[in-house]
Amino acid sequence: MTSPAIETAGLRKAYGRTVALESLDIRVESGEVFGFLGPNGAGKTTAVKLLLGLTRPSAGGGSVLGRPLGDLETRRRIGYLPELFRYQAWLTAREVLGLHARLGGLDSGQRHSEIERVLALVGLEGRGDDRTGGFSKGMQQRMGLAAALLGDPSLVILDEPTSALDPVGREDVRAIIRHAQARGSAVLLNSHLLGEVERLCDRVAIVNRGRVVAAGALTDLLGQAAVRLRVTGLPDDRAALVAFGGLEDDGEGWLVARGLDEERVPDLVAAIVGLGGRVHAVDPGRRSLEDLFLDLVRVPEAVA
Ligand SMILES: Nc1ncnc2c1ncn2[C@@H]1O[C@H](COP(=O)(O)OP(=O)(O)OP(=O)(O)O)[C@@H](O)[C@H]1O
Ligand SMILES: [Mg+2]
Repeated sequence: MTSPAIETAGLRKAYGRTVALESLDIRVESGEVFGFLGPNGAGKTTAVKLLLGLTRPSAGGGSVLGRPLGDLETRRRIGYLPELFRYQAWLTAREVLGLHARLGGLDSGQRHSEIERVLALVGLEGRGDDRTGGFSKGMQQRMGLAAALLGDPSLVILDEPTSALDPVGREDVRAIIRHAQARGSAVLLNSHLLGEVERLCDRVAIVNRGRVVAAGALTDLLGQAAVRLRVTGLPDDRAALVAFGGLEDDGEGWLVARGLDEERVPDLVAAIVGLGGRVHAVDPGRRSLEDLFLDLVRVPEAVA
């Protein structure tokens, strides 16, 4: 059985009197893209640093790729894009990546082709010989992503990989993350762009004040949807639709189906059409990750 990419139990970090991470329990399976979410100051970057062995836990522990936290050999199998990135301004992109490739223990014979592969992957193939000091913020972030993907690491940890990117760049990063997963990497994705997380991740954990407040598959966390259909021409006799549960008219031209399995929506549409109705729109009505996030982390206003 393959060990999980990440497993932590009661992971805690205090800096003096500031508790950065209270108690973290998460499990990321090998090969999955896992969303690690939470408001500013929730402890996400602290958790990432603990996973990488860049700082030591105050209590609790865990394993990464089946080895204890801080294991140096394991560090070479993890690609990491830090939240605050700054590269040696006097080096070219190829030189920076060469440095990372050597530190990551890539074979000398493999280095050149790997550097060219990741440069092309992040769309910097034409800029490899330019000094990174002259790169825009978004280009620097792309280069950091390239460095994190060198050598197909078993685990890729991305701390806000799209914070500096334009919408096209974000779309590129989604494709790059899917590509890394297809090549066998597990990805821990820390992002405030919840739409992005929703599109990429099967499972997420939301942390608040150093603790996990929700974790699991997105389909479970976001719950069953109330599917809404805009329908005209439906006869009064709707006996044929009884099998789809209680359908309600919302009074504004929409038919609302509660608790209907998404798989059955096409059958419902076909049944409506069979009765002579016309379906103009279908809204899956799923609760967004953003709604869930806000419900979980919004601090109630203090009552004066
Ligand atoms: N080196 C440090 N020394 C003192 N306090 C720290 C240190 N690093 C983090 N903290 C504190 O720990 C808490 C969690 O910080 P962390 O950077 O992990 O948050 P985060 O979830 O990554 O937030 P963001 O979304 O803003 O990146 C904050 O209160 C922060 O001030
Ligand atoms: Mg952070």
